Amino acid sequence: MASHAETINGSGGGEQSRRDFLTLAAGAVGVGGVAALAWPFINSMNPAADVLALASIEVDISSVKTGQAITVSWRGKPVFIRSRTAEEIKAAVDVDLKSLPDPAPDSARVKKPEWLVVIGICTHLGCIPKGQKITEPRGEYGGYFCPCHGSQYDTAARIRKGPAPRNLDLPDYAFITDTKLKIG
Ligand code: FES
Repeated sequence: MASHAETINGSGGGEQSRRDFLTLAAGAVGVGGVAALAWPFINSMNPAADVLALASIEVDISSVKTGQAITVSWRGKPVFIRSRTAEEIKAAVDVDLKSLPDPAPDSARVKKPEWLVVIGICTHLGCIPKGQKITEPRGEYGGYFCPCHGSQYDTAARIRKGPAPRNLDLPDYAFITDTKLKIG
């Protein structure tokens, strides 16, 4: 319904388009009456764009143990939060940057070595990669595996193999305390 409202809003607001809308509404006897009532109500339910843009969440990570991961939703996107093991951190740090399709040192990918926080959307065509659960395939590099077309990410969520053009994106986030994250 939002797109319906946007379509009407986005018609330019000129006299011509307003007349078109009124003509359409008048032409749709009965149904037009319902639509005219429903639209202002639905429109008032939509959060303003600036409210959406500012939306942030706080996440308690105190119960996530080393080697575990949780997924939270932020602005409609999955955010992968993983507590990396010492081996995963070492693997991410030791990699030769020249071998990476989208070179980035591990230090540019994390704020604290133990915590990897990334947007869980494959940068190829937008699938959700596997690997958050220990039981899911993580690919050859121990991070994430996208089953759609076989992209493989390492333990810093950098693309290592497959068609994805770049590393998993990082959300805006900060540590409020050692056990609480603010995303957005
Ligand atoms: S969408 Fe992930 S590899 Fe294509």
